[in-house]
Amino acid sequence: MGKGHILVTGASKGIGAAIAMELSRSGYDLILHYNKSSAQAEKVSEACRKNGSDVALVSADLTSPEGIKDLCNHVRTLRVKLKGIVNNAGSGVGDDLTRISEEAWDAVLNINAKAPLFIIKNLLDLLGENASIVNMSSAASINPIRNSISYSASKAALSNLTKALALNFGPSLRINAIAPGFIETDMTSFIRQNERIYDSIIKRTPLKRFGKPEEIAKVARFLISEDSSFMTGEVIVVDGGITFS
Ligand SMILES: NC(=O)c1ccc[n+]([C@@H]2O[C@H](COP(=O)([O-])OP(=O)(O)OC[C@H]3O[C@@H](n4cnc5c(N)ncnc54)[C@H](OP(=O)(O)O)[C@@H]3O)[C@@H](O)[C@H]2O)c1
Repeated sequence: MGKGHILVTGASKGIGAAIAMELSRSGYDLILHYNKSSAQAEKVSEACRKNGSDVALVSADLTSPEGIKDLCNHVRTLRVKLKGIVNNAGSGVGDDLTRISEEAWDAVLNINAKAPLFIIKNLLDLLGENASIVNMSSAASINPIRNSISYSASKAALSNLTKALALNFGPSLRINAIAPGFIETDMTSFIRQNERIYDSIIKRTPLKRFGKPEEIAKVARFLISEDSSFMTGEVIVVDGGITFS
């Protein structure tokens, strides 16, 4: 299509699907990753193709080191240069000290922090000049969520990883992160169904609502594009104001 290929992980739904759509409308070709939601991933890729994007679909479970390798190996078989990567796939909300297990901790740290690092490392030689990487962190990396210990820790790791990589890879590569607050996706549906928790979040949020996936997608598109050409190592909070309030 012209602007180059972007790999978007976790593109089957929620924020990742919105990013795929936003990037396709902006003229990028796409490699879209998903794990289990194959029908939804097909729908997103079809919609992106209608916008004129060349789209490849790749499936992998990023909670395991093997899955991370599989994804990178598959991307290599496509024989394309990458203009950017959006490390968006994530999971792991909901644990506490009584329920946490070593296996669950490893899975959450793998998908939220290890996968972004090793996807970048394994695909480094495919990244062209002026490539841009966006990591999907979370406002939980700044203000941890009480009952999401491993998730909060993993997102803090991802935010700091973003800065460490930005120090290593300038000037040819820019690496930034987004730290969303509460966004209307499947990940937060259990919160929106709990009136007491939902009300307390809305009360603390100056903009008095959850964000929409499209509002994160626009920031991702900005960070991928040359419009953010002097930005690297930033973690942009997009949260309706709840973090500072
Ligand atoms: N929603 C929020 O309020 C919020 C706030 C801050 C940060 N975030 C971050 O934003 C990102 C997207 O979240 P979302 O709200 O859009 O969540 P979502 O709607 O639940 O989508 C999660 C995406 O990640 C993929 N994924 C889940 N487990 C996976 C696994 N084991 N291996 C590979 N891929 C997997 C899913 O793939 P399949 O469905 O195909 O399995 C899906 O595409 C995550 O990194 C999340 O931590 C979200």
